[in-house]
Amino acid sequence: MDTVVTDPETLVGIDALLREVARIGALPLNRAETLPPGAYTSAAFFQREVAGAFRPGWMCVAHVSQLPSRGDFRSVDWLGELMVIVNDGQRIRALSRVCRHRWAPVCTGHGNAAAFVCPFHKWSYALDGRLIGAPLMEEALDFDRDTCALPEYRAEVVDGFVFVNLDGNAPPLAPAIAEMSAALANYQLDRLVVGSVLEYDCRFNWKIMVETFMECYHHIGPHADTFEPDFPAKLSYVEDSREAWTCGFGVGRPESVPEAFDVGLPRFPLVNQQECEAFGLYLVYPCHLLATFPDRVVWFHVEPIAPDRTRLRSYQMLQPETKQLPDFAKIMAIQDKTFDVINLEDIDVNVMQQIGAKSGMVKSGRLSHLEKAIWQLNQFVARAVAAR
Ligand code: FES
Ligand SMILES: [Fe+2]
Repeated sequence: MDTVVTDPETLVGIDALLREVARIGALPLNRAETLPPGAYTSAAFFQREVAGAFRPGWMCVAHVSQLPSRGDFRSVDWLGELMVIVNDGQRIRALSRVCRHRWAPVCTGHGNAAAFVCPFHKWSYALDGRLIGAPLMEEALDFDRDTCALPEYRAEVVDGFVFVNLDGNAPPLAPAIAEMSAALANYQLDRLVVGSVLEYDCRFNWKIMVETFMECYHHIGPHADTFEPDFPAKLSYVEDSREAWTCGFGVGRPESVPEAFDVGLPRFPLVNQQECEAFGLYLVYPCHLLATFPDRVVWFHVEPIAPDRTRLRSYQMLQPETKQLPDFAKIMAIQDKTFDVINLEDIDVNVMQQIGAKSGMVKSGRLSHLEKAIWQLNQFVARAVAAR
């Protein structure tokens, strides 16, 4: 039987796809369309995004509360880079965790270490990456240990979140999102701790996840019984995008808030009236996502893996004192269940979108004004892939 070719990029080719993305990236909001389906399915297009958005951008890999003490480390494998994010006692570093001998990983998972000792031939590295031990190498002529440190990725900690820039050439992140830092000041992001985490291996493109996170239009669909009653789609809005970030708000019905937010967790002491009447949705391009609530911040750690595969970890970030509450475990169990239901409401339809994008009949769709953040993301993606 003949193979049926339905991958849109295979049908149209990468050059035509890029032209279409450029056209859509230039549309005004009231004419906005989705990117073409090939932008969600094509391996060649994904590689353009890797080269134009992920490697040159800032990708969030951890929060400082995950690495509070000297020696705390977390392994991060992403886009072919094997990293270890480590607290060396002075600062947070992002090191390559590929051994300089014959490329075995010097650590896995997360934990606390005095040094990294490669399991293969026991070369050992200090927390700052210096090679400090290499057994049985006496006969290797001109073996220079100083040239065998674990290479370091560029890393920046902004508001408690650890970002890495893989190509080393990104402009500094803190000034690029300073206005967002100010807007989020009341949440004191750098002192939050992880309350719980939910993980999902998602069979769809990273943009589908970002788009769904940033628009409330779909509250009337998958969230008809969860978000829509208290946070109706039509009350939501998105601000004008800044170069490095954007934000939107899911506004509560006046008769619903503040009760709709009350899950038994204490509010942030500094949150203002407006922050108690709406939840905030923040995107640092390309895919760092935060949802703000009066009592917690939900961090969506998004890892694009392939055109049709994205890893999501959704973290409930809480005030540290919250963990002392006598009924903390009970509150979080309810919260995790609630958020899992909501996440799966999205993921179930997102999976079908990805399958739909491969249909030979599918074309770009028109967007609502409530999907302004998708229009903004389109412009970011169009710029990123054109730059390569
Ligand atoms: S590969 Fe690490 S010591 Fe040989
Ligand atoms: Fe949703």
